[in-house]
Amino acid sequence: MNFGFKIINWYSENKRDLPWRNSSDPYFIWLSEVLLQQTRVDQGIGYYLRFINKFPTVLALANSSEEEVLKLWQGLGYYSRARNLHFAANQVINEFNGEFPTQYKEIIKLKGVGEYTAAAISSICFEESVAVIDGNVFRVLARFLAIDPPIDSTLGKKEFKKIANELIKTHLPSVYNQGIMELGALVCTPKLPDCENCPINNSCISFSQNSFLNYPVKSKKTKQRKRYFNFIIINHFDKYYIQKRVGKDIWQNMYQFPLIETNSEMIEWNKAFENISIDYISETIKHILSHQIIYAKFWFAKTNTLDFKAASNWELLELDELKEKPLPKLIENIFYEYPQLSTK
Ligand code: ADE
Repeated sequence: MNFGFKIINWYSENKRDLPWRNSSDPYFIWLSEVLLQQTRVDQGIGYYLRFINKFPTVLALANSSEEEVLKLWQGLGYYSRARNLHFAANQVINEFNGEFPTQYKEIIKLKGVGEYTAAAISSICFEESVAVIDGNVFRVLARFLAIDPPIDSTLGKKEFKKIANELIKTHLPSVYNQGIMELGALVCTPKLPDCENCPINNSCISFSQNSFLNYPVKSKKTKQRKRYFNFIIINHFDKYYIQKRVGKDIWQNMYQFPLIETNSEMIEWNKAFENISIDYISETIKHILSHQIIYAKFWFAKTNTLDFKAASNWELLELDELKEKPLPKLIENIFYEYPQLSTK
């Protein structure tokens, strides 16, 4: 029995019962696949259920506001996924007459939908024979064949794509694609693969060589940029200033306390805000993102008058109103770490 058949048999016996697996509605599959990028399944399920409850159709999603979608996405990170979902829902309504596109070459025109997501939707929902290639698939193939083209290089990706599209040919695309991803998620895991229980272990080359942890190969380490964020929490009676992040940067269109970004750790209070006096300074909080490390400090200030120069994009809100806004996790966490913020 060959690679694909073994994976398909294994999948039919061992697949997880996930809420989107009973459906081939492209809206649900699209949403689940976008959610599962960079997110663990157990974390994604709750978000998925809340999402389809609030936006049961692509039309409902298109008719919502971007801010509502960001709020529902809060805590998941990679917020461009949420902004793109909202944008693409409007594309479905306006450019595809409200009908979700059914072919890979059309699906990929949706904002935020790359080769992976288009392959997943077109194969799972419409049985188009196009192989998905995600981190799971790279790992399974690289280990099974003990091959070392770097998965972060254009050439390496091309090579894996060629192999994957060859392997899918004789199988039902929806089952084969989900099977290989599921195997990567449950058995052929990054650090502690369960090779003993793998359906393809007797022909896996890296298993026979005991070299499976050497695969897949990457050519470079991801560089992480260091950034120093100083948030000023300005309390004016029961209200606080917040600001919307409008620039093309992380957390675009989400909210934060007014921010001073510096090139190194800010030790002393910034003279630009000399009319604000500081009560308390938090420890430095290290917040790690995929390509950035944020060193954040929260500067707690109180003011009875509003005679300092509030920047034009600051809004004065009560805590309850503030918590309704889409907030990056770094900001949301402050309410738990400093309960005085919640009881004022
Ligand atoms: N990870 C992302 N998408 C997946 C899928 N459809 N099946 C299993 N794991 C996944």
